[in-house]
Order: sequence, then structure tokens, then C-alpha cells
Amino acid sequence: MKYSDFGLVNTREMFLNAIKGKYAIPAFNFYNMETLNAIMAAARDTDSPIILAVSESALKYMGANMLMGMISGLRLSPERSVALHLDHGSSFDACKNAVDLGFSSVMIDASKLPFEANIELTKQVVEYAHAHNVSVEAELGTLAGIEDETTFGTESSYTNPDDVIKFVNATNIDSLAIAIGTSHGAYKRKSDDETLRFDILDAVAKQLPSFPLVLHGASSIPEHLVKTINKFGGDITGARGISTDQLRRATEMNICKINVDSDSRLAFTAGVRQYFADNPSKFNPRDFLGAAINLIHQNCINEINNVMGSNNKI
Ligand code: G3H
Ligand code: 13P
Ligand code: ZN
Repeated sequence: MKYSDFGLVNTREMFLNAIKGKYAIPAFNFYNMETLNAIMAAARDTDSPIILAVSESALKYMGANMLMGMISGLRLSPERSVALHLDHGSSFDACKNAVDLGFSSVMIDASKLPFEANIELTKQVVEYAHAHNVSVEAELGTLAGIEDETTFGTESSYTNPDDVIKFVNATNIDSLAIAIGTSHGAYKRKSDDETLRFDILDAVAKQLPSFPLVLHGASSIPEHLVKTINKFGGDITGARGISTDQLRRATEMNICKINVDSDSRLAFTAGVRQYFADNPSKFNPRDFLGAAINLIHQNCINEINNVMGSNNKI
């Protein structure tokens, strides 16, 4: 099916507006009905455009039919500005499959390949996706990460600003993910003194004025969620994210898409742990999942209003 049949849009117009307005479109990952509903409710409540991000492993977990059934169940219309995006697509086939299912945007993450091989694979994906009016994100530089079943390694390397023009011209991509010191997962920094490499972001933005840039691994790891998890039996000591000040500063430059997954995972877990601690005799999943939905919903609203600045931008 075509993505327009689901009322989805690609990311072109939302990025154009975000660059002009100096804000970022939130890309929140989801993997079940609870996370999807919490994220969509936050987008509706704040009148924010939104990118619903699905990793390959999340797609496998939900199953393609169930996923697209849920998207269809949202009854979207293009005015709502919702894109469905494949996050960290690892191959041409993964991206083609997403386009054929009805995704409106795909990321081909060939950032671990040598530069020329990254260009070749990205070009192949762009050719197929653009023929279906689907937007394409690619990446230069690599982020460190700790998640499983993804394309991430444990090593990171910053984006080289001298590479970006050649890459964008050769591939014709719609947006570029860059590595400036963020990383996937909940353990991003050892101390509060570590800052992002705004000098690299600035140099990239100078090479590519008005071109949409993307920040992965950008969860802020809210302290109150970490505390709740640790208070009610968890142990994620030392979890630390990117400060909201730094994220906001990035949105004022050319960062117009910010990816968040870990914060919603923390909110989900905090909601469930607290619910069980407060209600030891309860066992109805709708109750503890409801607590998780509430915390994700609240957290997404906070981030839309205070980090992305995408509220009231529909
Ligand atoms: O950066 C991507 C996400 O956090 C995806 O993680 O493959 O475990 O769904 P996942
Ligand atoms: P976090 O782990 O910081 O939430 O990053 C998510 C991400 O980059 C998804 O692509
Ligand atoms: Zn990512």
C-alpha cells in the first residue's frame, strides 16, 4: 500500500518548516500499541508534527501486518503531519520492504561501511524510495551504542565536515544524521561536564546551509525516571543523558530531527515498577500498562514542549 493511503506524509515539508522555525521534529520509537498510543496522544495534545520511528527489531517484534493495522487504526490525515519512519535500516532490502509496506521515510544506516560503499548503498535506497516519494535519511560518522540487534558498534567516530557535501550531492538524500558526541542507550556521558561537539555541528551546517541534520542517541535520560526505577527495585546507576540545554542549542542550529527511544523505555519501566510497588496485590495488565502509558505520554509532552520546540507547529 502507499503511505498516503494511511494518511501519512513524508518528512520534506516538516523539515523545511523546522529549519525555518529553528525547532526539531521529534522522532519517537515505538514497538507496541501502548507506546504508539502514548506518543500519538502527546503529538495530538501539543499539536506537534511527529515521526513515528520503527527499528528493524521493533518491526519484527510487532509483525508487519499488526504494525500497519495499528497505523491504519490511527485514522490519520495528512494535515496531522505524521511520518512513519524505518530507523537504522541496515540493507537495501530492509528499506525496500518498509517502502512497500507504506512507510513514508526510511533511514539507510551504512555509516559503518567505508565512505564510497556508504554512498553506493545509500544511492540505491534513494533511487527506490524517491520513486515512491519516500524520504531518505543516511548517516556519516558512527555513534557508540549498547543496544542489541542493531547496526551499532561499540566504537564511535565523529562526522568529518569535509565529507558532507560530497556525500549529500552524490546520494541525493533528504536528511543526514551526524555524530557529534551523542550515543544510543542510557549511559551517554560519564560526567555532566561532557558536551556535544558544537564545533563539528557548526562546520557541517556551514557546508550544508539549510540542509536537515539529524541527531540520534539524543535521549535526555530524565533524572526523575532513573530515580523512580532505582527506588523501586531497578539498578541503572550512572545512567546519564544529553542535557536539555544542549539539545535546544542543537535545534537552533540545523538539527531538525531528534531521535528519542531510551527516555520512553525508562518512562515505561518507571511506570510499571512504581505501579507494582504501590499496588502489590494487583495483576491486571491494563492497570500497570496504563501507568506506563501515562508516564510515556507525560514525558513526550515535556520533550516536545521543552526540547524539540515543535508544539503548535501543525
Ligand atoms: O536507535 C534505535 C533504537 O533505540 C532501536 O533499538 O533495535 O532495540 O529497537 P532496538
Ligand atoms: P536514544 O537511545 O538516545 O533514545 O536514541 C534513540 C535513537 O537514536 C533511535 O534511532
Ligand atoms: Zn539511532
